[in-house]
Amino acid sequence: MTRRRIIAGNWKMNTDRDEAVALAKAVADATAAFAADVDVVVIPPATLIAPVVDALGDSHVAVGAQNMHPEVRGAYTGELAGPMLTSVGCGYVVCGHSERRQLFGETSEFVGAKVAAAHRFGLIPILCVGETLEEREAGQTEAIVADQLKRGIDGLSKEQLAETIVAYEPVWAIGTGRTATPEQAQAVHAHLRGILKQRAGAEVAEAVRIQYGGSVNPSNAAELLGAPDIDGALVGGASLKAETFASIVGA
Ligand code: 13P
Repeated sequence: MTRRRIIAGNWKMNTDRDEAVALAKAVADATAAFAADVDVVVIPPATLIAPVVDALGDSHVAVGAQNMHPEVRGAYTGELAGPMLTSVGCGYVVCGHSERRQLFGETSEFVGAKVAAAHRFGLIPILCVGETLEEREAGQTEAIVADQLKRGIDGLSKEQLAETIVAYEPVWAIGTGRTATPEQAQAVHAHLRGILKQRAGAEVAEAVRIQYGGSVNPSNAAELLGAPDIDGALVGGASLKAETFASIVGA
């Protein structure tokens, strides 16, 4: 089965309105030539989702959110619900980024609730998993990501699972310039796909797209994306410049 590649740019807490609109337009222009082959997603800060959606018009570039709350509405000061995102044209949502887990105490159970809610509200979740350096050095990588994945997809139907995107982001590779080698990443991706197969069978496991994230840049992208189980990239720093992001999409 050939899985369609998906490259997403997580802008994190960067850009103001003018910068976001300009960057989104530049990304649409610079990646237009690859639109037939690759899904391209930009993930701006929440207040800039609507202006970015407007700026992109009917271009091939989709828009995602960096986080959401699993509940539909209520007394959750500071949070955003799925329907608030879909109502402004947002199509994807990142769930359980390691920065959310580490800095804001998100548990894998809470992340799983977000993933399930995303599907309920018509958003495609990008479920992030990844080990810290300490965990890798202690030989716990496979166990950690397996646990994060299983809890993250808990309760999903096979159809929902097939449409879930998983992102393997080793914490030690995020924003550090230190990237996993293609062999290291491929090993974890194959392990994750094996878990999906146990859980939902080969057909579903083969359908799920697994992105790699962590210091992806134009010089390492082609090699990483050449690995059989790496189906795309979740790009941080290098997504803030249209040319560098586009050259990753091109890779
Ligand atoms: P960097 O590409 O800046 O390492 O960030 C990766 C990331 O966290 C994407 O979600």
